[in-house]
Amino acid sequence: MKMNKKYLITTWGCQMNEHDSEKIEGILNSLGYIATSDKEKADLIIYNTCLVRENAELKVYGNLGELKRLKRENPNLIIAICGCMMQKEEVRLVIKEKYSHVDLIFGTHNIHKLPELLEDHDQKKNMLVDVWEDNEEIVEGVPTKRKYDFKAFINIMYGCNNFCTYCIVPYTRGREKSREPEDILEEALKLSKEGYKEITLLGQNVNSYGKTLDSKLTFAQLLHMLNEIDDLERIRFMTSHPKDLSDDLINAIKTCEKVSNHLHLPFQSGSNRILKKMNRRYTKEQYLSLVEKIRKEIPDISLTTDIIVGFPEETEADFEDTLEVVRKARFDSAFTFLYSIREGTPAADMENQVPDEIKHQRFQKLLDTLHPISFERNKELIGKTVKVLAEDFSKNDSTKLSGRTDTNRLVHFKGGDDLIGKIVNVKILKAKTWTLEGEIDV
Ligand code: 5AD
Ligand code: SF4
Repeated sequence: MKMNKKYLITTWGCQMNEHDSEKIEGILNSLGYIATSDKEKADLIIYNTCLVRENAELKVYGNLGELKRLKRENPNLIIAICGCMMQKEEVRLVIKEKYSHVDLIFGTHNIHKLPELLEDHDQKKNMLVDVWEDNEEIVEGVPTKRKYDFKAFINIMYGCNNFCTYCIVPYTRGREKSREPEDILEEALKLSKEGYKEITLLGQNVNSYGKTLDSKLTFAQLLHMLNEIDDLERIRFMTSHPKDLSDDLINAIKTCEKVSNHLHLPFQSGSNRILKKMNRRYTKEQYLSLVEKIRKEIPDISLTTDIIVGFPEETEADFEDTLEVVRKARFDSAFTFLYSIREGTPAADMENQVPDEIKHQRFQKLLDTLHPISFERNKELIGKTVKVLAEDFSKNDSTKLSGRTDTNRLVHFKGGDDLIGKIVNVKILKAKTWTLEGEIDV
């Protein structure tokens, strides 16, 4: 037992990675480690890395370089790197060659092996690399130290089979695998008994949940099941793929009172030519009619999306199609990305890559189109009372709390710490592009 050793973990990337880090922390706590935010005091530094875009990758290398000094000053410091970057052999070779101060490398599929890896490294004292290509079995029962005690992530599936041509995730996270519904239910029940109010179900493509299960339970059925948990107040989920979004799911969102009226539905590009090259398997028209159907069924739904600008061969006309979807779908908000070449994906080898300058111009135009719509949609809430999960004190004003609506909008309102972790009624008084302001409405 390593008593009183301190660890510091830094996480890049998506919610999947954030949740993996919660598991790593849970394992370390069970080994007797305690968290520190001071890297000078840490005995173990772990970087949980992301490979989805080049920026994320470069940040990891920059940070690793800085750790050389710390390792020189404290040779007992253990430096470990894990996460999506480590699934790529080329990256591992770079680390071995240029960052020999790293002690331990593991991947996305063998987090549960961390206790053994730390032990083995202790005995060998040289760089230990253990990365699994994939993991056939889902490992249950990994201890988890959750960041909050009122909202929690729950994995419902791992991996992705979609192979969008720009995306590295199917190569780093492996083949799609769904967790057994009993295991998900057990985790959700336990959380609700511990006082958690909100769960977020995580998967790269939650709409294909169940396909690998013998029972073939669907995602819509899973939502109905979880909606029955008494003490739970809110169920969120992401991400949905437009090609798989069923009427049953729309109906589940509509009828399950605990399921948030929110859909994160990435469309990536509005051009049919580009969508085809991306292997997205829907057209602009299909996406827009899906949006129309969802809005008709659930008028107050909040729609958010992901958009990529500058995919290979994207012309001005293709980009105009993207803007058209933005204007017609009227997203509440969007994550916007400059296309980033990911070696090993089909799009990396496509000809006619779009020059950076043009990508940036289009990116700005996209933001100029998205932002006024977000502002308009937020203004539609003025005068309405919404349920907000109070999360923390507001960063800019300590007399105020900040919290999130069930559609994930950030709301600031006056209140004390007795409300943190509770769902309260807030009347919206003012809207900005990114945030809302309101007051408690009793
Ligand atoms: N370049 C830019 N954006 C990307 N995404 C995934 N791969 C890339 C890439 N190579 C974006 C997609 C996806 C989100 C999580 O990241 O929009 O939905
Ligand atoms: Fe990547 Fe496409 Fe899978 Fe999402 S659905 S993780 S974008 S391959």
